[in-house]
Amino acid sequence: MPIRIVTTHLEFEGEVYEQRVVMEGEEPAVWGADAELNVVGKPTPRVDGRERVSGSAQYTYDVQLPGMLVAAGLRSPLPHARVIRVDASRAETAPGVRAVYTRFNTSDLLNPNNQRPIFAEELLFQGQEVAIVLAETREQAVDALRLIEVQYESLPFVVDPEAAIAPGAPRVQSDKDGNSISEEWPKTYERGDVAHGLAEADVTVESRFTTEANLHNSMETHGATASWDGHTLTIWSSTQDIYGVRKQVATTLNLQQNQVHVIKRYMGGGFGSKFGAHNAGLFAAWAAYKLGRPVKYMLSREEENLAAGNRPPSVQTYTLGAKSDGTLTAIELRTVGNVGALGAWFSSVALPAKELYLCPNVRTVDVPARTNLGTQASFRAPGVVEGMAGLEVALDDLARALRMDPLELRRKNFAPRYQIIDKPYATKTLLEAYDRAAERIGWATRDAEERRYPHGRASSLRRGVGMASQLWGGDGGPPAQAIAKLLPDGSAVILTGTQDIGTGTRTVLAQIAAEELGLPLRAVRVELGETEFGVFSPPSGGSMTLASVGPAVRMAAVGARREMLEIISHLAEAPLDALEVREGAVINRETGKEMGSIGSFLSQLDGHEVTARGMRGPNAEEVVVRTFGAQFAEVEVDIATGETRALRIIAAHDCGRIVNPLTFTSQMEGGIIQGLGMALFEQRIVDQRLGVTVNPNLGDYKVPTIRDIPEIEIITFDRPNEVANTLGSLGAGEPPIIPTPGAIANAVAHAIGRPVTGLPLTPDRVLALLSDR
Ligand code: MOS
Repeated sequence: MPIRIVTTHLEFEGEVYEQRVVMEGEEPAVWGADAELNVVGKPTPRVDGRERVSGSAQYTYDVQLPGMLVAAGLRSPLPHARVIRVDASRAETAPGVRAVYTRFNTSDLLNPNNQRPIFAEELLFQGQEVAIVLAETREQAVDALRLIEVQYESLPFVVDPEAAIAPGAPRVQSDKDGNSISEEWPKTYERGDVAHGLAEADVTVESRFTTEANLHNSMETHGATASWDGHTLTIWSSTQDIYGVRKQVATTLNLQQNQVHVIKRYMGGGFGSKFGAHNAGLFAAWAAYKLGRPVKYMLSREEENLAAGNRPPSVQTYTLGAKSDGTLTAIELRTVGNVGALGAWFSSVALPAKELYLCPNVRTVDVPARTNLGTQASFRAPGVVEGMAGLEVALDDLARALRMDPLELRRKNFAPRYQIIDKPYATKTLLEAYDRAAERIGWATRDAEERRYPHGRASSLRRGVGMASQLWGGDGGPPAQAIAKLLPDGSAVILTGTQDIGTGTRTVLAQIAAEELGLPLRAVRVELGETEFGVFSPPSGGSMTLASVGPAVRMAAVGARREMLEIISHLAEAPLDALEVREGAVINRETGKEMGSIGSFLSQLDGHEVTARGMRGPNAEEVVVRTFGAQFAEVEVDIATGETRALRIIAAHDCGRIVNPLTFTSQMEGGIIQGLGMALFEQRIVDQRLGVTVNPNLGDYKVPTIRDIPEIEIITFDRPNEVANTLGSLGAGEPPIIPTPGAIANAVAHAIGRPVTGLPLTPDRVLALLSDR
């Protein structure tokens, strides 16, 4: 079949990339609103649920190989220092120890992403690698760490982002001035004239909003087990991107890509922090290659929380201008971000300010600062969660200044078109999301005395209701490939190279294939997470997996069904047009008769496997595809103690067609709970005098637990987005976290009658807001 190369555009985490894609054949027509679907759209328990809950699923953590050495890391106790000398002689002779690596014996070990040595002379943050011990057991490796003597030369450091960009600040990297990512920063976006817009305004509000670093705390930490057999390096990696790991490991070891086999069968989460091999994976691969023995390096929770990434803190300063009827005339935002020691990009904190509300005059300035702290990583809607909270809180400040209902203010400034480049949206259901969620939370009575003071004014308990909007991509895009195989007994195997990072990808892909192949779900097996047997699929991130890989699986299944029906039409001497398959049975539509099972036909041929390939087609160019939604929160604040409890969250998100209402609901609940953590509890705490993080563990870094979870109600749309892709589905991974912190913050402001200036809203912060007259 002839191929074509098509240029298309792909949005990933708020950035737009040009992509050239190979297409072969045609994608099937989109499943429209009237498509009759039997498997897709049904609440479907996970096809691998039994393995996951019974403990038989093999996570990267579970990999044990004969002769395997286990690593433990010694990491910098200081925020900025030089490694002068390391004496590992006592560690090297400790029981079980086979090797100790430091900067003095690893000169060929570089991270190919930034070309920096994994063991550096100059340490840029607490938690950076100083030495790694390999021993027969993890316990022996950990014990030996204490026997390593290191001489450090302490260097001046800076951990506060605003201090880092002030004149005369200590240098984060001693050979680099300015503590910026590069010369390209700060970056400014501008449309219209903000000064003019502010001059036109009847009301202006200025606000400063801060967010703290959040730690991903995936259940499974980063790491890998690697094994070299003289020909092939096999690496079991906890990763969102097996092809990225393949490329980096091949580069690091100077191997061909066909010599690197990456496996990720099950995964305990990543949330954006697990793209690529990371230093731990690169080290495991390098050491296994050197020593000819398998090497396992999984980070401890503390290593993870110091060195494996974070949602970076932000300081957002807004100036909003509006006419007295609420019409926005200007939005200005300056964001100082703390990207850590080696941050190389800046997340889209400004995206909501640029896009969400109709406004002719907008200016945003992004000022990322490097500091002597662990480097940032993407984290579920990176930037946009922080930026949405900041903007939506500023909008509530404006509503108070205007004496206007906050929801009315948002409706007033609804943006019907994409404003960054003037284009229509494919769909925009935001107003409907507002209406439906407002009705469920009882927005109309939010100011009622009985509701705000449920125990009377004498009680210290106050209730408040707030809301925030959601804006994100989720349409995915090419390249993504899949192969569908129908075996002689009528069962099917779907091969892709995607990853199920815990979201239910295996299940939804099986549903899509079963639908097109006319098979029951149990007759379809989906293989993923292996470079050796899979075909290229993109990283599992950016809410793009279903919308990218799903259409490729569908096209492959359609191709396999076509060939299967042709074969049956020959064997049964029945007209092709009359044949149809349902639940594994072949039916003659003309006679209405069941002709036998698919397997009963295919098994007549000696070992023929039907195979077909599918690929994700290009994205629509003339429209902007977005997911939109809103969340409304009700909270109760105790103004005597400052404690906040979320009571209810109503979430309305339009993510196109819902392939599996069960996994969709899991995504919604997970995102909301993570957003709740950010709103009320979660913060990395850094001792500003010492430059060290004091809570890199799950005891002192507070994530929500079951007692903190409010009643969550999900409002669904479930309408195909017919221009997005052939499923009509958009990603649901990131949308649900985006509005939660802003909605809760606005509810707290409503409850206490004071503006909120930052997250998380811990009791001390709430008490400070209350005493700040
Ligand atoms: Mo994500 S933060 O694209 O996994």
